[in-house]
Amino acid sequence: MRAGRLPIVVLISGRGSNLQAIIDAAAADLSFDIRAVISNRPRVAGLRRAQRAGIATEVLDHTDYPSREAYDQALQRLIDRCRPRLVVLAGFMRILTPRFVAHYRGRMINIHPSLLPAFPGLDTHQRALDAGVREHGASVHFVTDEVDGGPVIIQARVPVLSGDTAEVLAARVLEQEHQIFPQAIRWFAEGRLKLEGERVLLDGEPITAAIQGPVAKEAQPA
Ligand code: GRF
Repeated sequence: MRAGRLPIVVLISGRGSNLQAIIDAAAADLSFDIRAVISNRPRVAGLRRAQRAGIATEVLDHTDYPSREAYDQALQRLIDRCRPRLVVLAGFMRILTPRFVAHYRGRMINIHPSLLPAFPGLDTHQRALDAGVREHGASVHFVTDEVDGGPVIIQARVPVLSGDTAEVLAARVLEQEHQIFPQAIRWFAEGRLKLEGERVLLDGEPITAAIQGPVAKEAQPA
């Protein structure tokens, strides 16, 4: 690991395709360094991706803990031992306790497969199809107490096409997730991205999340 690279910890629960995009970006541009990958589920594909890349992995199984509070306290201890400056939730399928969220305020980001504030929660692709929207996408946001409700950093839009199934639409969105998530981490690593109150600043200016797809390149000044 080189000095100067932003230390991050990535939390996962499953497949880890976003983790893979982050691993690839870290190898390519060297602005951040993945100190550890932590999963709340054992034996998931994302852990194997991390191991293949030579990254330390930990499993902290939530079923071993009597309460959400107890789990989040243990998780916080584990994360903080790695001294990350950014915590990245890459498909980490857990509701977080307010104390945990407060501890990482301004230094924890999540990716959500919808154009927030539309479709927070689960099954976003089917819900987008059911609602008949013409556009769908993904959002990277700072994590705050409201589930999938924190200030948005960057979004990518994709069209919803006739004949789309939830699976087809999910794949179209996922491709964009793999672009915008490393981009947000890179901005943070370069010291360009900050949460100030409820506002996201990029290079000191408030940003809108209204990034036009299909691939988000640069945020637009408000
Ligand atoms: C992604 O769609 C992400 O937006 C959501 O969970 C999924 C995780 O996929 N939060 P993967 O594990 O990164 O492949």
